[in-house]
Amino acid sequence: MSNSSTLTIQKISRCFGGLVAVNGVSFEVQEHEIFGVIGPNGAGKTTLFNTITGLVAPTSGKVFFEGKEITNRRPHQIAKFGIARTFQNIRLFGELSALENVAIARHLCTKSGLWDGILGLPLTVKEETQTHDRAWELLDLVGLSDRAEVKAKNFSYGDQRRLEIARALALQPKLLLLDEPAAGMNPSEKGQLSDFICGLRARFDLTILLIEHHVPLVMGLCDRIAVLDFGRLIAIGQPETVRSDRAVIEAYLGDEG
Ligand SMILES: Nc1ncnc2c1ncn2[C@@H]1O[C@H](COP(=O)(O)OP(=O)(O)OP(=O)(O)O)[C@@H](O)[C@H]1O
Ligand SMILES: [Mg+2]
Repeated sequence: MSNSSTLTIQKISRCFGGLVAVNGVSFEVQEHEIFGVIGPNGAGKTTLFNTITGLVAPTSGKVFFEGKEITNRRPHQIAKFGIARTFQNIRLFGELSALENVAIARHLCTKSGLWDGILGLPLTVKEETQTHDRAWELLDLVGLSDRAEVKAKNFSYGDQRRLEIARALALQPKLLLLDEPAAGMNPSEKGQLSDFICGLRARFDLTILLIEHHVPLVMGLCDRIAVLDFGRLIAIGQPETVRSDRAVIEAYLGDEG
């Protein structure tokens, strides 16, 4: 494991019955990298994210974050280590407002417990104010503060994706995993996404892992890219290297690369 490695995936496999969804995948993500994970439908990208974030236990292999092993930790423990994510199938609380969706996530970071809340102790009151202010700031950052009170279910796909990013950022992560952030966005939103994600890295000092099918976005944005096919890592490297890799062209890019 190198010193500046933020995330280390070591021979991760995950089977579902007889299907090997992720097959012995290893790579390291360096601090401050924007690292892409691409590959055809069913290649195992989301399953890999799920093993990192504790939603699915790997059948074998290990995950390290900042040198500490986090394999098989529960999702909330992994979030507390500083790893947050968004989902391919958006998982917002549809009946709650945008502001509430972000504020709820923020509660995972606050120090005061249930009793402090019920008794209205000073720490809770201070933290509640901070949570509210911070949620507003994050909504502003993703361009939704003018609709903070609107229920999440009433937002467009693109807006819901940005709201999910705001909610992930409320956890104050060091590592942010984005599962297909451009899916469902209109062309203009997609066009702005690259600068937006770069801006997030700079502003919050983030390392970012990104699954995305929108090839121009991935190629233009990522420092390095890993390519999965049938659960296996078939290529890893800088965009120009991956783009011209024969196995990647055959498995995924075709003429698009
Ligand atoms: N919970 C599950 N139970 C059974 N099979 C699963 C489960 N989750 C994923 N799979 C299977 O594992 C394989 C990898 O799925 P995964 O969702 O990780 O692919 P993906 O690369 O994210 O694909 P996509 O680009 O379509 O999102 C697929 O064949 C999928 O059907
Ligand atoms: Mg997926």
